[in-house]
Order: sequence, then structure tokens, then C-alpha cells
Amino acid sequence: MTCIPPPIPPLRGPVPLSHLFLSRFVRDGHCVVDATCGNGHDTLLLAELVGDRGHVWGFDIQHQAIAETRRRLDEVGLSNRATLLHRGHEELAHHVAVPLQVVLFNLGYCPGGDRTIITLPGTTGSALEQSLRLLAAGGVVMVTVYPGHDGGSEEQATVEAWVAGLNQRYFHSWRMGQTNVAPGAPYLLLVQRAS
Ligand SMILES: C[S@@+](CC[C@H](N)C(=O)[O-])C[C@H]1O[C@@H](n2cnc3c(N)ncnc32)[C@H](O)[C@@H]1O
Repeated sequence: MTCIPPPIPPLRGPVPLSHLFLSRFVRDGHCVVDATCGNGHDTLLLAELVGDRGHVWGFDIQHQAIAETRRRLDEVGLSNRATLLHRGHEELAHHVAVPLQVVLFNLGYCPGGDRTIITLPGTTGSALEQSLRLLAAGGVVMVTVYPGHDGGSEEQATVEAWVAGLNQRYFHSWRMGQTNVAPGAPYLLLVQRAS
């Protein structure tokens, strides 16, 4: 049998970088969360990675986002690996099984959707706090931060205050951004719970 290696990922912006980390951190049988389903691209990757024995919980406040994510999973027969919740991620702790290997946030507005519906500092901050408490040892919270849109810099300030307060004894915290882009471009934060 010929083994076809996965394609080389083009690292244009933080989302492909987050996918590269996901493919390394998520294994068969893991429980994971997509805190912002949007168009369902991240949920689909997570559903592929957790295998038949794992599970994905997906949250979004927009009905359209949940429907599109469900459609994407149905298309490849992976709907049974995911529970999609038309609810805010600030309710995270009420709905998921623990421990979680990954909680993924892709902040801001849904590409191609209503740009006035954005993630907000208060609810994002609450969901980030909950995520840390639900994380497995070695598990990660990943956040793609978009400072550029209206309201984005306020949310960035909340997220940055959250990471700044993490005790380095218990968490490994990383900030990764492309260098040859305009100021205010999106970037990736990764926080790993120490083993
Ligand atoms: C950048 S998009 C997510 C992109 C998505 N992960 C993908 O793969 O296409 C951000 C999403 O966050 C959602 N959102 C905003 N506030 C939310 C909240 N409190 N809880 C969950 N989702 C929220 C928006 O409706 C929007 O669909």
C-alpha cells in the first residue's frame, strides 16, 4: 500500500497555523470544543481528528452558523462525532464532558456573514476562564485574535489581560503572529495546561 503524505500547509495567517497545532494535539478519542463554529471549517477538522471514539462540542449564537456547520459535517458523514449547540460559549461548562484536550476560539465575525455579530469581551473572557478549568493536563486553549474590526481592540485587551494573568507554573502561554503583515493583523494565542 502506498502511503500518501498530507499536503504541505500554506501558513498564510493564524488559522492554518492553528490547524497545524490541532493536527498534532488532537488524537483519536479526545473530547474537544469549537467555541465559535462560524462556517464550520474548524469543527470539521476537529471531527476528523477525534475519530469515532472522540467528540466535538460546537457553539455559535447564530442559527445560520450552526446549520452550515451541520451541513458540512453531514456532507462527509461525521455528524455523529459532534454536538452542535445554538448557544453562547459563555455556557461552555454546562454542556461538555471533561477533560477537554482542546478549546478553540476563532474570534470576531463570521466571514461572509453579518459583520455586526461579533464575539464580545465579556462573554469571551468568561468562556476562556471556564476553558482553563475544563482542560486536561497537556490540553490547549487556542485563540485567533482579530484586533482590526470595530470592537476588536477592546476584545484583544480582555484576552491579553487574561493571558498576562496566567501562572507560568501551571500554564505555558504563547503568542504567534505573522511578521510581514500590517499592524492589527490577526494572530494566534496558545495556552497549554502543564502536565
Ligand atoms: C470568525 S467566526 C468563526 C469561524 C469558524 N470557526 C470557521 O471555521 O468558519 C466567529 C463566530 O463566533 C460566533 N460568536 C459570536 N459570539 C459568540 C458567542 N458568545 N458564543 C459562540 N459563538 C459566538 C459568531 O456568530 C461567528 O460565527
